[in-house]
Amino acid sequence: MPPYDHQPMAAAANAAAARPVTVAVVGATGAVGVEILRVLEARGFPVGELRLLASRRSAGTTLPFRGDPVAVAELGAESFAGVDIALFSAGGERSRLYAPAAVAAGAVVIDNSSAYRMAPDVPLVVPEINAAALAGHAGIIANPNCAAIIAGLPLWALHQANPIRRVVLTTYQAASGAGAAAMQELIDSTKAHLAGAPFTPSVMPHPYAFNLFSHNTDIDPDTGYNDEETKVIRELRKIFAAPDLRVTATCVRVPVLRAHSIALNVTFDRPMTRAQARQILGAAPGLKLVDDAARNHFPMPNEATGQDSVLVGRIREDYSDGSGRSLALFVAGDQLLKGAALNAVQIAELVRKA
Ligand SMILES: NC(=O)c1ccc[n+]([C@@H]2O[C@H](COP(=O)([O-])OP(=O)(O)OC[C@H]3O[C@@H](n4cnc5c(N)ncnc54)[C@H](OP(=O)(O)O)[C@@H]3O)[C@@H](O)[C@H]2O)c1
Repeated sequence: MPPYDHQPMAAAANAAAARPVTVAVVGATGAVGVEILRVLEARGFPVGELRLLASRRSAGTTLPFRGDPVAVAELGAESFAGVDIALFSAGGERSRLYAPAAVAAGAVVIDNSSAYRMAPDVPLVVPEINAAALAGHAGIIANPNCAAIIAGLPLWALHQANPIRRVVLTTYQAASGAGAAAMQELIDSTKAHLAGAPFTPSVMPHPYAFNLFSHNTDIDPDTGYNDEETKVIRELRKIFAAPDLRVTATCVRVPVLRAHSIALNVTFDRPMTRAQARQILGAAPGLKLVDDAARNHFPMPNEATGQDSVLVGRIREDYSDGSGRSLALFVAGDQLLKGAALNAVQIAELVRKA
């Protein structure tokens, strides 16, 4: 288990809170669902009743919460009576099928899937960036794509100081972004590779051990972009409320178990120095500066794992743009936490206070 580094202030604020909340976690047994339980617990979210939901395969199993085993039930349209907040992480199909039932039963749905992210009446929220967008929600709130959240935090901080004109980003995405089965396939295929044994991938489209490949989502034959790249581009525009933001992305799966890394090349309206960027990023919420050139120590996925903060560093002026308006930087963030579970629970905290 990674060394967890959760924000103690949040736990204190939540512990002091009022009415207990009935919470449903849909997809509780998955990579994101398990982290949601840990984050709810670590931040002292005032959970009264906890309803754990997953597929028929998991019904009757238990998961620990606050030291006690909680039974998992099969997800159904009738699962949501009395639920205040439903955190969905069971794939887009389940969200499309059951989120309306949860809303009809009176719950606010916070959805980790991509099913509703681009719907006009659904806020797409990163609390450090656009918490105000929550005000107009109609029952469903979407959690953005993990790479969009991790790239979005440093970009937003810089954008406030000096408007961004163009972003070129390249991701180095971990197995955990594709769920628990992909993480297991990386472990199993690595063991097989080291043992010289044959291994046929069943989750990923290509051999994963000691390899990397273009992101395992469908490619639009017209544009050549894969779905992950399209999501990152569109979602950053929606989160920033900047429909014309010029962004391009190349998304790559790397044989890292957990935590995504992203190289960012950013062009601003006006010149921006390395020192200015360091100061802005070092003070921005949700970010931690890891930028020690003397020790060649910059953001790494193994250090981002288990951390609430997205690590940012490797900040350089891009001398290929002679105008002084372009910077290069590198980030690493635990996409199961800030890219999914933590961001969703932060939204739940705001919903509860509203
Ligand atoms: N992994 C990430 O970093 C990440 C980040 C952001 C968003 N998301 C999104 O979060 C969702 C879950 O991702 P994950 O990585 O946690 O996947 P996962 O590890 O594969 O877990 C999937 C979860 O969905 C449940 N499920 C599957 N089929 C179901 C069904 N027919 N009825 C009820 N529950 C069902 C599974 O239950 P069983 O255990 O019973 O099969 C499991 O709890 C996806 O929509 C994904 O796009 C993931």
